[in-house]
Amino acid sequence: MSMIVVTGATGTVGSKIVTGLRERGESVRALLRNPAEAPAEWDGGVEKAAADFSDPASLDAALAGADVVYLLVAVHPDMAGHERNVIDAAVRTGRRPRVVLHAAAGMEQRPAGVRFVASHVAGLDHLRASGLPWTVIAPNGFYQNFLGMAQSVRAGRLAVPGGEGAVSYVDARDVAAAAVEVLATEGHEGAVHTLTGPAALTHDALAEQLGAVAGRTVRYTAVAPDAALAGMLDAGWDPWRAEGMVELYGLYAAGHASAVSPDVEKLTGRPARSFAEFAAEHAGAFAD
Ligand SMILES: NC(=O)c1ccc[n+]([C@@H]2O[C@H](COP(=O)([O-])OP(=O)(O)OC[C@H]3O[C@@H](n4cnc5c(N)ncnc54)[C@H](OP(=O)(O)O)[C@@H]3O)[C@@H](O)[C@H]2O)c1
Repeated sequence: MSMIVVTGATGTVGSKIVTGLRERGESVRALLRNPAEAPAEWDGGVEKAAADFSDPASLDAALAGADVVYLLVAVHPDMAGHERNVIDAAVRTGRRPRVVLHAAAGMEQRPAGVRFVASHVAGLDHLRASGLPWTVIAPNGFYQNFLGMAQSVRAGRLAVPGGEGAVSYVDARDVAAAAVEVLATEGHEGAVHTLTGPAALTHDALAEQLGAVAGRTVRYTAVAPDAALAGMLDAGWDPWRAEGMVELYGLYAAGHASAVSPDVEKLTGRPARSFAEFAAEHAGAFAD
């Protein structure tokens, strides 16, 4: 059986990928910095490998024997370097593992001045040049990001610098399910799977749907980019990340994240979850 190594395995998407692969009976090795913090449900079924994206020797050990690698790095000023390090370690295994790069929707358009997307574009360029077989999972923004704004939603406010643009946000569970299919089956070489929800919604419409499940009016405020940045810096965000978020919302505001893709359903055989479904499932978090 193929050995599938999952990086970013404790995060929003990676944790669901590990669970999904285990449910399919696949051999999974989860890469994480501190194995002592591995979820209890991994015991007995998931191999753990301690490694850091910035430490090539640790990556060599974690990728030894890999047939397939899910390459998901966290948002970080050196995220492009982290992707490069994992790709280089995959090359050094000498086994030509298949690498599935977790990137971002819209990367094929190579938008200027959006650092998170640019980092993934650089990672893909490096992957293509490596000669390894590759596939890209390119999701749009996750519904789950709204859980981080639940406190504000409970107070009746959705305040982001998203302008009037519609965004085809996607459920991270659908992203993980699609990724599991790509990891566990052959025939995806050279494909860029763009993963979105079933519809593009403006932040006004998203606020209305959150209000419907919260049982109150939730108003959208289109915050100006400078004010949004100042707010994030006041709240203690890392400046590189905060500036990156404002750039990403600029892309949303310009309507460049509104395309709807059929790839979730193509890969999983099920329609992508709607934002209304997600909001209803998390009504407790959004209601006062
Ligand atoms: N959020 C969105 O809306 C969205 C949309 C499209 C694409 N993306 C992309 O998705 C990725 C983030 O995915 P996510 O939200 O699932 O991640 P996440 O929840 O932030 O989790 C990050 C993972 O990376 C691991 N990690 C962090 N630093 C590491 C290091 N130095 N060495 C090894 N592992 C490290 C963490 O593991 P430990 O801390 O346990 O070691 C954790 O498992 C980014 O590449 C982002 O560009 C996000």
